[in-house]
Amino acid sequence: MANQWYQLPPGTIVGGRYHIEKVLGEGGYGITYYGTDLRLKLPVAVKEYYPGFWATRDCRESLDVKYSQAQEESYLRGLARFEDEALTLAQFHTVPEIVLVRDYLEKNETGYLVMEYLDGQNLKQMTDGFGGRIPPEILMPLMESLILAVQKVHEKGLIHRDISPDNIMMLENGHVKLLDFGNARDVTEDRSMTLAMKQGFAPPEQYRSKGQGTWTDVYSLCATVYYCLTGKLPVQAMDRLTGKKLPTPGELGVRLPRCQEEMILQGLDLFVDKRPQTMRELWERMYASEDVQSQTATQAEGMQSRIMNQTGRIDVTAADSDKTTDRNSTLLSTYEDLKNGGFREVCIAIFRKLRGLSGME
Ligand SMILES: Nc1ncnc2c1ncn2[C@@H]1O[C@H](COP(=O)(O)OP(=O)(O)O)[C@@H](O)[C@H]1O
Ligand SMILES: [Mg+2]
Repeated sequence: MANQWYQLPPGTIVGGRYHIEKVLGEGGYGITYYGTDLRLKLPVAVKEYYPGFWATRDCRESLDVKYSQAQEESYLRGLARFEDEALTLAQFHTVPEIVLVRDYLEKNETGYLVMEYLDGQNLKQMTDGFGGRIPPEILMPLMESLILAVQKVHEKGLIHRDISPDNIMMLENGHVKLLDFGNARDVTEDRSMTLAMKQGFAPPEQYRSKGQGTWTDVYSLCATVYYCLTGKLPVQAMDRLTGKKLPTPGELGVRLPRCQEEMILQGLDLFVDKRPQTMRELWERMYASEDVQSQTATQAEGMQSRIMNQTGRIDVTAADSDKTTDRNSTLLSTYEDLKNGGFREVCIAIFRKLRGLSGME
């Protein structure tokens, strides 16, 4: 996609050290770029504070972000929040499932949060890559480590408040990482920021100013799992309050161990006190039951022997990467091929396919 005039042009060097190469994503409060740390010669992701509703810029004239006096207070308050995002991330530098922050700097009248570059896809892209639904035997093992990572965030007294498919990255090695702590708050700070709320992933208490807690992240995480498994955005909390029904994953044709289906739905309960209250509770009830464990063990055994037999078949380069091939059906057939072959191998195959088809290297 062509660069917009307000986005940093490729080739810009931020702070004498970070070489900007392309835009990775853009949200209400900022733009995330792919780039290189020229000093350490490492790929990085650079997130720039750029709240389009308060500020503007034309990079053909100057890289400095401009805002009117009337917007100054909001702009600067947002900038301070943005710096908090970097400091929050820094607290979790030892948690492997949380993206690593490398630097924070202020230039061009704005702020830059420099992170490790994650070579992967977010769960929204993965869901699309799978043709609209990630099979449970791939998704559920990935979510386990994420649930435990969010538990660690809660143990520090913070709630993330923006867990959603585009804020979770999946890497080629099958690991997952949580991103975007721009909306994270101290549990004692009972204030909501309506602007940052994502429809379908935010529970009712996020539309109000009171009552948010670890259960708020439980709702968003279960909404994320629901979306990835079913390919459907969960019915918005406010519509559910007025009577619109949320179809169960089973009704949408997704087969899950009973306790997992029940937990997803309980986590999505509109009443705060009916949800599992903490990530640990959610984890215990989703993964620790004997039922799920024995099922997982059998699956794992099956996977192992198939990985051994199939390693030679995972190479999907040259002929397969014909760009005219219908992307979804290709990916689905890859999955069918490798169905019981272990989710890591499936992921690697999918990544290669996505790269081949989009012409990226
Ligand atoms: N460290 C990273 N490595 C690779 N891609 C990233 C990284 N951080 C963000 N992205 C990509 O950019 C998108 C937007 O980043 P995010 O931090 O969620 O910002 P926003 O506040 O705009 O949502 C993500 O969905 C992801 O696809
Ligand atoms: Mg985001």
